[in-house]
Amino acid sequence: MVVNKNEFFGKIKKILIPEDQIQEKIAEVGKQISEEYEGKPLLLISILNGAFVFMADICRAISIPCEIGFMAAKSYAGTQSTGEVKISLDVTQDLSQYHVIIVEDIIDTGRTLSLVVEKLKERNPLSLKVVTLLDKPERRVVDFKADIALFTIPDHFVIGYGLDFDEAYRNLPYIAEYSEDTDEVSVDV
Ligand code: IMP
Ligand code: MG
Repeated sequence: MVVNKNEFFGKIKKILIPEDQIQEKIAEVGKQISEEYEGKPLLLISILNGAFVFMADICRAISIPCEIGFMAAKSYAGTQSTGEVKISLDVTQDLSQYHVIIVEDIIDTGRTLSLVVEKLKERNPLSLKVVTLLDKPERRVVDFKADIALFTIPDHFVIGYGLDFDEAYRNLPYIAEYSEDTDEVSVDV
């Protein structure tokens, strides 16, 4: 646990995506979703914990009626490529009545989301799409592509705007690169 303020900010190597850029892109995607789903029953499903901030902002950028739901899922990569996903919190809605959009923070290896999508498809939603704030395609081990990715980033470990390192940094309003090495720090916050 990080309790010292200098130590906390000292791990922020560089701000990759500032707050205004995130908000600008969210407004654009919110408008796109509002046009595409006009007149349709829409359910946004967020995968906790990482996507909670993105969910709060994207749902307010959507100007048509929609419902929201939350899921908690963890994937376990076994010796077989399929792996297994354990859902510890689930949505209550009957998915067969909704067009579903999964709202995710980041797609890294692709393991978690490919398994979650597989599970949700079994519940026959009217349609199913994935919107992710961040995409790290270089790290993919499972073939998975989001329908909408707001930002594509290189293979860096990132924190902030919901994303954590060891459960800290989720409350930063921007996306930053995390640094193991404090000598590398180049940012004033
Ligand atoms: P997956 O590897 O695509 O299954 O991603 C699993 C989860 O790992 C994501 O939903 C994030 O919670 C977490 N994760 C992946 N990359 C990062 C990162 O750079 N920073 C913080 N969390 C990450
Ligand atoms: Mg996550």
